[in-house]
This record gives sequence, structure tokens and C-alpha cells, in this order.
Amino acid sequence: MRRTWWKWGIYAGSIVALVASASFTIYCAWKVYAYHQPGEGATVKTENNEYHFVLVPEELDNDYWRLVEKGAKAAAKELGVNLEYVGPRQANIDEHIHILEKAAASKVDGIMTQGLTEKEFTPVINHIVEKNIPVVTIDTDAPTSKRTAYIGTDNYYAGFIAGRALAEDMHGKANVAIITGSLTASHQQLRVQGFKDAVKQEKGIRIVAIEESHITRVQAAEKAYNILKKHPEVNAFYGTSALDAIGIAKVVEQFHREKGTYIIGFDTLPETIHYLQKGTIHATVVQEPYEMGYRAVKTMVDIRKGNDVPSVTNTETKVIRKQDLPLRPSRNYEVKHD
Ligand code: BGC
Repeated sequence: MRRTWWKWGIYAGSIVALVASASFTIYCAWKVYAYHQPGEGATVKTENNEYHFVLVPEELDNDYWRLVEKGAKAAAKELGVNLEYVGPRQANIDEHIHILEKAAASKVDGIMTQGLTEKEFTPVINHIVEKNIPVVTIDTDAPTSKRTAYIGTDNYYAGFIAGRALAEDMHGKANVAIITGSLTASHQQLRVQGFKDAVKQEKGIRIVAIEESHITRVQAAEKAYNILKKHPEVNAFYGTSALDAIGIAKVVEQFHREKGTYIIGFDTLPETIHYLQKGTIHATVVQEPYEMGYRAVKTMVDIRKGNDVPSVTNTETKVIRKQDLPLRPSRNYEVKHD
């Protein structure tokens, strides 16, 4: 009898051990699966084990991107995220892509960047997402890629309101030259297309030239100079990236043509506001770079926690003129280099 009890004891013990070890194996397998499924109830990190996100801008030291960085850093600080800001010194698609690939290889928790061209950026974004690293696009979307969310301007709409503002301010008559950051980047193409569509029905508006600045003031100025030499009939300029109107304004002043030349640009960097105040630049399209950075980090944390996020969030865009100055203090245009 005593021998039977002893045997039953061993059987029961073995069953308990078996169930415990099977449960542990299932638990471990679930943890591994969950880690590899961002956005599906996945990684909840503790304070000491913070998320590591990377923000890759078009150009590292560009004043516009410094504002995006500032917003992203503010959200990172609030949420205990380790944020890295790395990008090309000067806008360069190959380098941009190389930096994205390097970030993906170092297995970060999320990457935020632009979708500058469909041909180059869609495959690299998809490749990153296939490695279970979520991507949020900012400023310029890659709508056909596997990115989880886009946060930024509706670039076609922004171009459209620029066109309507020019048509109104010039009373439907102008010979326009466009200087764009890039002829191939999708946000710049959308800003040009929106503008063209907005002035299409105006018989008195002609687009005389379109040139590329590679998002630098110097090249915007160079191109504006050549345009004014070659097409003296130009009496309006449209600059589609943050530094274009600044370069154009310098040249227009050099030619002493401030009185007879209308300029509409993009963004509210301090130099743009200065020329707007002076009257050399007449209007500018406001974007919200700080908000883009701030919301991108918040959205990425939500994605990592498995929360639903909207696929597209358009930040505010509007046209302002001299009479709208001074702008109320805003984190979107106060550039401070630390
Ligand atoms: C655009 C950015 C661009 C910057 C260049 C901004 O208007 O939204 O994509 O990098 O201009 O200065």
C-alpha cells in the first residue's frame, strides 16, 4: 500500500513539471513572436529599457529640419525615448538611403523619414518594414510603401493655395518663374503641380521658367539670377522649398527689382519673415515642422505599443502675408542653434 502512494506521488509530480515546462515554452515562444510583431500588442518597454528611434532628415543642418528635430526631441524627452538624428550633410538621395539601411541594420525600434522619390524610397521603406521595424513618413509621404503612418503637409494642397494667393495678389496677370528644391522629389513635384492647377484658368498667368535649387539658398539665388538675365519679363517668383524664396529675394534686391517683382515662398524661417516684413517677399506658405517631429515620435510610440494610429495626419498649412505679422510665438519657426 505504502509503495503505491509513493508511485502516485512520482506520477503527479512528473505531470505538474511537464505542464509547467510546456507553459514556460509557450510563454517564451509568445514573447519572441510578440517582439517581432510591432503594432500587434508588441513591445512594452520599461523606463530603463527605452525605445530607440532614428529620425533621418533630407539635410542635417537645414534650418527647417532643425525645427523637425526640435519637435521630435521634445516628444522623445516626454516619453523617455532615445532619439537619434542622423542624415546627409547636404541633400543627397544615395546617402539618405544608405543611412536608412544602416539604421535598419542596427535593429532600431522605429525609423522616421521622408518618401522623397517613389522609385528609391518605396523599396527601402518596405525592406525596413519587412525587418519588423515600423516606418513613419514625415514632410513627404511614400503612399505606396508599407509605412505605417504619414505626418505632414498635404503638399498638393500647399502648392494649390500658393497658386491661388499669387493669382489674387497679381490680379490674374503675371510672368512666373518657379524655383523648386528638386525636380524629382515628390513633395516638390506636388507643390509645383498644385500651383499649376491653381493658376490654370488664369489667362494672364504664364509660367516662363522652372529651375532646381537642390534646397540651397546659393543655388536658388544663382537660378534666380540666370532667370532674370534670360527672362527680364519675369515679374513673379514661386519658391517651393524653405530656402528658395530667401535666395530669390537676395537677387531681386541686387537687381533693385523689389518694387516690380512678386515673391511667394515656403515656410517661416527667420530670414523669410525678415524679407516678408521688408516687403521683398510678399507671401509664404506656412508649414508645421515642429509639430511634424513631435507627432511622429508620439505616433511611433503608439505603434510600438500596438495602438491604432491614423494612416495620414495632415499638419496645418496656410498662406500668410505681411499684414499677418507678427506671427504669434510659435515653436514652428523659432530656430535656435544649440
Ligand atoms: C520642405 C522640406 C525641405 C526643406 C528644404 C521645406 O519646405 O518641406 O522637405 O527639406 O524645405 O529647405
